Amino acid sequence: MKILLKNIKGLVQAGENIPHVIPGHLMKNIPLLDDAFLALEDGEVIAYGAMSDWEGISDWRDLDIIDASGCYVFPAFIDSHTHTVFAKTREEEFVDRINGLTYEEIALKGGGILNSARKLEDLSEDELFDAAQKRIQKMKALGTGALEIKSGYGLSLEGELKMLRVIKRLKEANTIPIKATFLGAHAYPQDYKNNHQGYIDLIVEEMLPQIAKEGLADYIDVFCERNYFSVDEMKYILEAGKKYGLIPKVHVNQFSILGGVAQAVACGALSVDHLEEVSTEDITALKNSKCIPVMLPGCSHFLSIPYGNARLVMDNQIPLALASDFNPGSTPSYNLFQIWSLACVKMNMSPEEAFNALTVNAAYALGLSESHGKIFVGYKGGIVLTNEIPSFAYIPYSFGESHIQRVFNL
Ligand code: NIG
Ligand code: FE
Repeated sequence: MKILLKNIKGLVQAGENIPHVIPGHLMKNIPLLDDAFLALEDGEVIAYGAMSDWEGISDWRDLDIIDASGCYVFPAFIDSHTHTVFAKTREEEFVDRINGLTYEEIALKGGGILNSARKLEDLSEDELFDAAQKRIQKMKALGTGALEIKSGYGLSLEGELKMLRVIKRLKEANTIPIKATFLGAHAYPQDYKNNHQGYIDLIVEEMLPQIAKEGLADYIDVFCERNYFSVDEMKYILEAGKKYGLIPKVHVNQFSILGGVAQAVACGALSVDHLEEVSTEDITALKNSKCIPVMLPGCSHFLSIPYGNARLVMDNQIPLALASDFNPGSTPSYNLFQIWSLACVKMNMSPEEAFNALTVNAAYALGLSESHGKIFVGYKGGIVLTNEIPSFAYIPYSFGESHIQRVFNL
């Protein structure tokens, strides 16, 4: 099957020499080809370029020609931070917050992550799989072409294994790449409230060996935050995970600065995620490291907490990625168009900077730089065709409007 997209108003992020990661000060640049064509054969990009260079078609059999006049075409987004496997939504906590409680207060009362963990106990692997699979179908329809999914609502050996086995089945059932992150250190379960070392031992001595044995995770995450895991606890857990080949990718600086960023970088983390709070020490640690910060403006919006200082990161020539953080507590949205718009409106990122953060740099944050985040000859990832729109900047500008006409290979 061949598909030809012709008369494309703007072909975005297509090129043979786009780097694997783009430093902050260069994120404002994006390859954009006006009046272009893109040819696909059996889901693989076989040619693209200016319409004036199009050499016509010798074989018209099995060819679907799409006139993309007035439309933009770009590679699918990458969502490098999600909690897509969960039992139930938590809109009751949303109402509690409207009535005056904070996210942290709700968590201290046994809500939040522990609420999700209780709800997860009642669901079978099949039920969790079916619910997550429906969410993934909706994500794909919104242009998400690869995603990461964390455990972390199990908080027991059985619960964490159940979540990770579901993620493994999701990997097998989908053609888009899905990466699994073990987040046993998401919160201390009720039974270990006064025995933190006991829970850490459970993670290190029982969960990790079984996860490694079944090949259930690619990454290891820790929620490093006051009332959750300290910097030293994070280091201990990450180092244990590394012995099983798991790459660190962590939650840090959501509410407070504890020094977790520098420690995560020292542990060889691929990414440090959240960073609603950032210190100059964090910037120094990230500069010239291989670790990419991932900011999550959907979480800032939903919890009414500060937005990450994207400009500070980018002005220091540090690459930046954006992700949804989709989860039932702090970010019940997986729509990366919303993230794009929030990044522009609230974090002062230009449309191009935010787009680089959702494609090339997001692919780096998920270890998919070789295959995703940009269009090139041989690219087999997802492709998004927009509706007719006046300009590229119109996409994040016109927030809340659906811009997708069609997605390919998703
Ligand atoms: O990334 N901060 C930690 N974990 C999630 C929220 C988890 C939840 O509330 O269920 C986050 O925001
Ligand atoms: Fe998260």
